[in-house]
Amino acid sequence: MKNKPLYFDYASTTKIRQEVYEAMLPYLQEEFGNPSSLYDIGIHNKKTINQCRKVIASLINAEQHEIFFCSGGTEANNWAIKGVAFAHPNKREIITTKIEHPSVLNSCQFLEKLGYKVIYLDVDAEGFINLQELEEKITPNTCLVSIMMANNEIGTIQDLEAIGGICARKGVLLHTDAIQAISHLPIDVKKLKVDLLSFSAHKFYGPKGIGCLYIRTGTKIENLIHGGNQEREKRAGTENVAYVVGMAKAIELSYQEMFTHNERERTLSELIYDRLKQAIPDIRLNGPAIGSNRLPGNLNVSFKNVDGSQLCFELNEQGICVSTGSACHSDLIEPSHVLQAIRVPDEYIKGTLRITIGKDTKVEEIEKLTQEIIKRVKK
Ligand SMILES: Cc1ncc(COP(=O)(O)O)c(C=O)c1O
Repeated sequence: MKNKPLYFDYASTTKIRQEVYEAMLPYLQEEFGNPSSLYDIGIHNKKTINQCRKVIASLINAEQHEIFFCSGGTEANNWAIKGVAFAHPNKREIITTKIEHPSVLNSCQFLEKLGYKVIYLDVDAEGFINLQELEEKITPNTCLVSIMMANNEIGTIQDLEAIGGICARKGVLLHTDAIQAISHLPIDVKKLKVDLLSFSAHKFYGPKGIGCLYIRTGTKIENLIHGGNQEREKRAGTENVAYVVGMAKAIELSYQEMFTHNERERTLSELIYDRLKQAIPDIRLNGPAIGSNRLPGNLNVSFKNVDGSQLCFELNEQGICVSTGSACHSDLIEPSHVLQAIRVPDEYIKGTLRITIGKDTKVEEIEKLTQEIIKRVKK
């Protein structure tokens, strides 16, 4: 690779931080025992995993036995949705939103093929659901409501406490995809009244391929992965001890630093937006205003009559990593379902960039990013 890239895609993934890497190392070599084995090096690793479970549970105010490790956010979302649906064969309706991650939307579409009815709630221009509409759509046949805590594209933070209140009142299970939210918002599963919550370590400076599903005690859910009796017989497969250790360390550090990082990321987002707006007055900010209803490091902007994918390629030539607002479907580049759901006007939708910043973003990098964008958009 050429020079170190200027990275503005923290919502996509993050680099494992040094402390996490060091915590993981012993478990990749000397501490290799299988946690299910009955001799010391296995028993030691079982204890390690349970210690990690305890750390994670305490941070989100869950009980230790409510934390289940799995392969990441995609699996956790699949498990929550299909697992609850299969455990409630007499209730065949699910409510979700139009702006969920594909791991939720495609799980729901799979269930539709099996005869389940899925209601996809609309969102307003900033990406918020209508709480009254949610309440009205819940029926005695609803087995699950699945609504993400924070959106990965436009940063919208839903009022999950209100959503939890509605679901609890109506006696319906609530799942939330907290994969983008977890390192930015303090989570208290009891206060939020969520029954299932997914997260993934690679969004908060932990390793890829490890995640977690919180399952409230008493929630009826089928297994997705069948095999041995790991994870209290709910999720089979030899545990990835090193990655579990890495995830616990990463989440612990991200909780400790949450406030400082959020403040800094919000300030830097504002700086980028102000610079761009000054030079390109007809720029459009997609999602809520920068502030408490938006993920602090998320900036999603559109430029009028600009080709966002081309812009992204050209920035890449300069060593700058950003995302577009498009998704690739069978070789066709199409505006993302999220931008369509918030009804970004035609002349803007294709000119969208998602810029996400993180703990290592530097002001000098922002100089270069904004200069390169302005130069290209104004030409
Ligand atoms: C909101 C959201 N949900 C789910 C996922 C999938 O998580 P993973 O990459 O761990 O499978 C992502 C990752 O991009 C995400 O941002």
